[in-house]
Amino acid sequence: MEERKGFKSTFGFLMAAVGSAVGLGNIWGFPNKMGSNGGFAFLLVYLVLAVVCGYIVMVGELAIGRKTGKSAIATYQTLSKKFKWLGWLATLSPFLILSFYCALGGYCIKYIVLNVGNLFGAAFGTNGLSGGEIFEAFMLNQTEGVVFGIIFLLITMFIVMGGVSGGIEKFCSVGMPALAVMLVVIIIRSCTLPGAVEGLKFMFVPNFAPLKENFLGVLATAGGQMFFSLSLGMGVMITYGSYLDKQKDITKNALVIVIFDTLVALMAGLAVLPAAFALDPGGKIGGPSLLFVTLQNVFDSMGGIGAVFGIIFYLLVTLAAVSSSISLLEVIVTHFCDKATEKGKGDKRKIYSVIAAAAAGVLCVLVCLDGLGYSGYWVPGRVLVDGAWQYTAMYNDCWLDFFDMLSEGIMMPLGALLMCLMIGYEIGPDVVRDEVEKSGGKMKTYGFFKICVRFITPLLMVMVLIGQIKDFFL
Ligand code: PFF
Repeated sequence: MEERKGFKSTFGFLMAAVGSAVGLGNIWGFPNKMGSNGGFAFLLVYLVLAVVCGYIVMVGELAIGRKTGKSAIATYQTLSKKFKWLGWLATLSPFLILSFYCALGGYCIKYIVLNVGNLFGAAFGTNGLSGGEIFEAFMLNQTEGVVFGIIFLLITMFIVMGGVSGGIEKFCSVGMPALAVMLVVIIIRSCTLPGAVEGLKFMFVPNFAPLKENFLGVLATAGGQMFFSLSLGMGVMITYGSYLDKQKDITKNALVIVIFDTLVALMAGLAVLPAAFALDPGGKIGGPSLLFVTLQNVFDSMGGIGAVFGIIFYLLVTLAAVSSSISLLEVIVTHFCDKATEKGKGDKRKIYSVIAAAAAGVLCVLVCLDGLGYSGYWVPGRVLVDGAWQYTAMYNDCWLDFFDMLSEGIMMPLGALLMCLMIGYEIGPDVVRDEVEKSGGKMKTYGFFKICVRFITPLLMVMVLIGQIKDFFL
């Protein structure tokens, strides 16, 4: 039987896993959610969750993936009687995420083009319009939205066609370090803008009021964000774990991924929030516009050199987004490749990459046409009353929010919760310990892992789920 081709080096694996984790969730989602959920309070809850849920679920997923050496679907089928269907949930969620992820990735490509236009004073630059005006015009231009979304999807597809070590590992090993360097440059610019200090206070000066007002709400948003940001609860880390060889230390790798991902989210917060306070004092902090409106205004405020910064920055955000979207597509493709290989037909990677990308592309076009609700394709939950939009209880004003809420709000915490129950109560946490210890040496964090996976993590995830559902329906 043909051999399954995995990662060539630990660094390559780490960069691919970090590449999956670091993406629009960090750069777009984190500052946006931290902005609208109380700054410091959100950060605090996020950090606690990253340790007692993120790290635990990461170790669990990598371990069960490596144990079976199979796709997420086959992993659950092999390990569990009660949860053998769980792999399907973990494979369905990436479809939903891909749909809006590619749309947002397309926006990043559009912003590279926009800044190239600015550099050469071309008609496709900002032409004196403000960041807000440009963004709105783009949202209303459905053709452009669809074209850029599809370009992003095609890039993802071609890399996945190249396979794990040829495509994914090579791409991430260069892109991730470059992104970190660029973020540092933008942080320096953003934090030295006059008035930026208010943003720093918002992020780091202890303020517990938001927790007293709405603890469950902050917990739910931070929890959803954490799962999304770390690519957990949906088969990605199981799949990447399945390509990991037995000498690699799972707990160490999991820790590096969690720390790096959290650092990049914090760096993105530092790049965006101080600038938002400086450029729009008293304005609304949070929402999708931060990455595309606020930062574009930062670049425009820098004079001629701003366009160069803009090009490099949006290019790197696109790289980060691509390294995440390839992991989403890979979850789906791995399953079908494994099946084909089992039947002795070769892995048929190329054809499955095309089919999976085409299926996700259908939903992606819907999200792109909707343009964050600007084009009004969202029907449920919104009614036009006397020429103005009003929202029903199911408040979500666009398809992107809806898919985001379904995946990040429900499917990911639910997937991770059920995985913890499977490890904690059906197969036993020692299965994870035995797998971790295959690399030699004791699993030092086993005591902590066992308590969390059985009690603390599931409890917190139930609370996250209740908070998300409450937020959605009430
Ligand atoms: N973690 C990615 C981000 O922060 O942008 C998004 C993501 C990738 C979510 C892969 C889920 C996933 F399975």
